Amino acid sequence: MIENFEELKQICNGCTKCGLCETRTNVVFGVGSPNAEVMFIGEGPGENEDLQGEPFVGRGGQLLDKMLDCIDLTREKNIYIANMVKCRPPKNRDPAPDEQEACIGYLRNQVYLIKPKIIVCLGRIAALKIIDPNFKVTKQHGSWIVKNGVHMMGTFHPAALLRNPHNKPEAFEDFLKLRDKIHEICDHTY
Ligand code: URA
Repeated sequence: MIENFEELKQICNGCTKCGLCETRTNVVFGVGSPNAEVMFIGEGPGENEDLQGEPFVGRGGQLLDKMLDCIDLTREKNIYIANMVKCRPPKNRDPAPDEQEACIGYLRNQVYLIKPKIIVCLGRIAALKIIDPNFKVTKQHGSWIVKNGVHMMGTFHPAALLRNPHNKPEAFEDFLKLRDKIHEICDHTY
């Protein structure tokens, strides 16, 4: 494991482990506080994220920011946001299993350095890899599991909420559960 956050970021910025490096504009390493107790994990950069080098900056990201704001979380202050893969899959397709495998070491290293108390998986791709290989978002969203001492929950991906707005109330309930869990187990998030 790399012990220094900036060094890990530099290594990631030069990564050529999979084919996504050939079409990326920017590596999207992650954003937020390296001391965060709460970490969000998405799928992979889209077009806007690839252009700006920051996760969740498109329409889905704006929705995510609003939901975070409702429970007094902000990407600048008290959380960290990363993705399963750090480079944009062309045409926003799902990241392929070999691309996820090539990239997962960076995410593991981020988790190792940040040591979050809570991980929230945004959408199916992250939840399948991190929580349960059979994860069903519609059935399992909002339920907590504990793995290696870390409390984990999967919820709807913001882009899925834009496509299916009728799921927004359930997603909001998940965020309220997150707020309760933060109050229960975190020291300096609020
Ligand atoms: N979708 C994701 O999963 N991650 C991003 O960073 C942007 C969109």
